Amino acid sequence: MEILRHVKKERPDIPVVMMTAYGTINQAVEALKEGALDYVVKPFNVDELKIIVAQGLEKKRLKQENIHLKKALREKYSFKNIVGKSNKMREIFSLVEKVADIDSTVLITGESGTGKEMAARAIHSLSRRHEKRFVSINCGAVPEGLIESELFGHMKGSFTGALANKAGMFEVAEGGTIFLDEIGEMPPASQVKLLRTLQDKRVRRVGGTEEITVDARIIAASNQDLNKGIEEGKFREDLFYRLNVISFEMPPLRKKKEDMPLLVSHFLKKYCDKMGRKIKRIAPEVINIFESYSWPGNVRELENIIERIVAIEERGIITKESLPEGLFSSRKKHETDYLFEPGFNLSSHLDEISKNYIQHARKAAGGNLKETASLLGISYRTLRYLVDKYSLKSS
Ligand SMILES: Nc1ncnc2c1ncn2[C@@H]1O[C@H](COP(=O)(O)OP(=O)(O)O)[C@@H](O)[C@H]1O
Ligand SMILES: [Mg+2]
Repeated sequence: MEILRHVKKERPDIPVVMMTAYGTINQAVEALKEGALDYVVKPFNVDELKIIVAQGLEKKRLKQENIHLKKALREKYSFKNIVGKSNKMREIFSLVEKVADIDSTVLITGESGTGKEMAARAIHSLSRRHEKRFVSINCGAVPEGLIESELFGHMKGSFTGALANKAGMFEVAEGGTIFLDEIGEMPPASQVKLLRTLQDKRVRRVGGTEEITVDARIIAASNQDLNKGIEEGKFREDLFYRLNVISFEMPPLRKKKEDMPLLVSHFLKKYCDKMGRKIKRIAPEVINIFESYSWPGNVRELENIIERIVAIEERGIITKESLPEGLFSSRKKHETDYLFEPGFNLSSHLDEISKNYIQHARKAAGGNLKETASLLGISYRTLRYLVDKYSLKSS
């Protein structure tokens, strides 16, 4: 009976058949209660035993298949809302799947609105921790004096306003995941305490004496360059290395334009369903405008604009006129602002500008290339060369 209990505790997936020469009904009942598959009394029939073993193996196989199916279902469910088919997003999907089942700390970087929190939630829901909580804290939004109490909890009376004992997020997220958003904004004093918690896996509530063992998986996110924070002395290097075990960057929307149509139809469906509206058609010119806009607010900005259009548009079609007036033009950046965007490259930036001018001039010249060249103040040969280089189809 002791071995049975031990096996069921350590490896509950292993089927156990008990065998004895001195069987009593009580013993048999107890063994079945403790999780034995069956109970045979000597002398026994070998054929009967074969059947019992076969049944045990079949049961184990079914159980494993069930676990497998459940996991596949969860995977489907958790990626359902993350839309994307660009190479960059595909890479992220496969990374998310790979890191879900290990407990390493993950650092997700990327501009605001690129889906960092979504990715973190997907990792959580694919992990073995998915039935426990996903707790999220925005380190930039919590007042400096309260961040430690939020993370680690506090004892009654430890500071003005601490009216009762309170568990911190590490305790709340026990067995689950903590999402530390905007980690770059965490005050340096709290960074030290966080680092210690990550190393010791223990917390002490503010004003408390007892150390509490905690088990939560950490996912951190930042829209700032943490290396810059380190250089400026605002972010601890040792904490950075502790967090940066596995890291990936969510691409800005302007760098995954091939996902635009998919995202647009995803959000259209979402808000049409929500508001009980129907949009029958979206004009190609709108997609063109969307594709040439720089989307400083990324997917979040796109989602907001679509929500607004669905709410306001009553004709059932989306055209240029449906777009918020002046939105795209008034937000136009100053030319040199691009300089400070991540991944800026002068030649490709100048190429973009040339392309734009050529397309405008050609439209103005009614498609006539000679006239286009003269509008642009370049030779016909040069224009032909550029049209080829940028593969600008005549339109
Ligand atoms: N690939 C995507 N597919 C669908 N929705 C997305 C995608 N990326 C971002 N979103 C939406 O954009 C908004 C911002 O995402 P979020 O994860 O909060 O971004 P971040 O944390 O990087 O600021 C959310 O409403 C989210 O649903
Ligand atoms: Mg966010």
